[in-house]
Parts: sequence; C-alpha cells; structure tokens
Amino acid sequence: MNSVVKIKNLSHKYGSTVALDDISLEVERGELFGIIGPDGAGKSTLYRILATLLNPDKGEVYVAGLNALTDYKKIRTKIGYMPERFSLYQDLTVNENLNFYASLFGVSIKENYDLIAPVFGQLERFPNRRAGALSGGMKQKLALSCALIHRPEVLLLDEPTTGVDAVSRSEFWDMLSQLRKSGITILVSTSYMDEATQCERIAMINKGKILDTNTPVNLVDNLNENLYCAAANNMFGLLNRLRRTSGVRNCYTFGATLHVVADTSFDPDQVSAQLTADGLKNVKIYRTKGDIEDLFIKLTRDE
Ligand SMILES: Nc1ncnc2c1ncn2[C@@H]1O[C@H](COP(=O)(O)OP(=O)(O)OP(=O)(O)O)[C@@H](O)[C@H]1O
Ligand SMILES: [Mg+2]
Repeated sequence: MNSVVKIKNLSHKYGSTVALDDISLEVERGELFGIIGPDGAGKSTLYRILATLLNPDKGEVYVAGLNALTDYKKIRTKIGYMPERFSLYQDLTVNENLNFYASLFGVSIKENYDLIAPVFGQLERFPNRRAGALSGGMKQKLALSCALIHRPEVLLLDEPTTGVDAVSRSEFWDMLSQLRKSGITILVSTSYMDEATQCERIAMINKGKILDTNTPVNLVDNLNENLYCAAANNMFGLLNRLRRTSGVRNCYTFGATLHVVADTSFDPDQVSAQLTADGLKNVKIYRTKGDIEDLFIKLTRDE
C-alpha cells in the first residue's frame, strides 16, 4: 500500500465539543485529495493533527509513513502546512517572508525555485512589498510559495480559497493541478462544494464524521435521487408550497432555483398546473441531475 496519510479511528474533543468523531481515511501518494465540509465540520482540527500541532484524544495518525505522536519532528520537515488564517509575517516583504521560510528548513530558494515558480511568478513583480499590503489572492500565493519552499512530500492546505475572489480561486486550483504533476500529495479543504470536482477523491465531512469518501463522479453517480429543478416568479412562495406538496421529500434553494427531491409519484406537470392555479406565475419544474451539493444535503439529511 502506498498511503501517504493514514488515519485510523481518530477522535478529538475540545472540552465537551466533539470536533472529530472516529474518522478513518487514507490518502495515496500523489493524490489531490479534498476535505469538503461546512463551518465547524472539523476540517481545521484534522489539519492541526496532521501538522502535529495537536495531539488526538484517540486513534492513529501516520503522515509520510511516520507516526504523528512519536515522529512529529520528522513529519514537520516533510509537510508544507498552510493554515486557515493568513500565517505570514505581515511586516516582512514578499522576499523576506520567502527567505525566512527557506532558512527555517535549511534550503536555498534557488534549489527549489522550479517548484514554486508557477505560484511565485506573479509575485516577482513586487519583491519588496510588505505581505500585509498584498491583495487576498497574492497573499495566498505567497503563503503557498512559503509552504512549498522546502519541497514537502505532503501539502496541507486548510481552506486556501476562503475569502478569495472567484478569479483567484480558479487560478489557485489550476496551480494545484500543476503542482500535482511534481508528485506532491495534496490535501485541500474547502467549504465550497463546487470545488470538490477539482479533486481526484474527496471525503465529505460534517459534525466531525466522514459521510463518504470517493471520486466526485462516483459520489454523484451514487446519488440515486429523483431530482427536479423548480422556479417561479415568487421563489419564496414556491418553496413554501413545494415543501407542503405530497410526494416532495425535500426542497431547498440551489443557486437562483430550487431543487426538489421527490418520490416517483411526483408528477411535475400536475404540480406546475396546481401551483399556477394557486396564483404563482412562470412556474417551471423539470428533471435535473444532482451534484456534490445535492449529495451533501442528502447525506446530512440521512444522518
Ligand atoms: N480551540 C478550540 N476550542 C474549542 N472548540 C473548538 C476549538 N477549535 C474548534 N473548536 C470546535 O470544534 C468543532 C470543529 O471545529 P473546526 O475548526 O475543526 O471546524 P472547521 O471545519 O475547520 O470549521 P470552519 O469552516 O469554521 O473553519 C467546532 O464545533 C468548533 O467550534
Ligand atoms: Mg477551519
């Protein structure tokens, strides 16, 4: 087996708050693996444990083949960790931050520059700007460069795209697929469900539990729900009425529309006609295919 990260029956509590509840997970060498879950799911707790900054209450954790409890010092040389919140020195310049991280790990920037070049390239224009004065997207690129400068085996990215604009988010994912080609194993967490499809495999996590682990395509294929998309002039009225319609198991907002999980007895034409008779205008209900967000809603509902 070629697991770079192996977690067995891991649990962690803060006082009486359960942050991780008996989770098990294996990530293969070279994978781009997603940890997908909403606020408070336990993502950052998992990262702190993988980064050996926090000892778990229970369970076994191996990173780069090493035991997180006994070999934590060695693990720290093999990982690049980008915490959830901006971790760089705001008063140091771009170059000073990078130099600092390189010196921490005893490497020269030159020897690993090929690895960071696709990320750091855009920062080369302002080497002397203070990190605190960079835009959100640029800060994130600098933090990623610093996390990579010692050529880690495993890259741990905790919500790297939170609070970053849509263009920078998409650039960031492009950079991650570039980085994968260099053989680095990447664990990236996000609460944006749409980012899940960029990963080779994902673990969906909620309230400290892993709900499912698979490729995004297989996860959605297994969704197996009778799903409809619905819209009308008055979306709030539509939501309220659909939730009271027989044959509707669940109805929730989905972007600018609603998604309706229905029994096979649900007849969209008949329901449209009824809603129109009730006074709603421009009612449209049609079959749709679910995605990761629908799956997440299903899994949390099944719980
Ligand atoms: N230092 C702490 N002390 C007490 N409770 C904590 C601490 N850190 C996290 N928690 C609690 O543990 C649970 C998991 O939190 P965690 O930060 O791991 O989740 P998360 O998925 O990273 O969430 P977010 O999306 O908000 O970053 C939450 O209920 C949180 O309130
Ligand atoms: Mg977090």
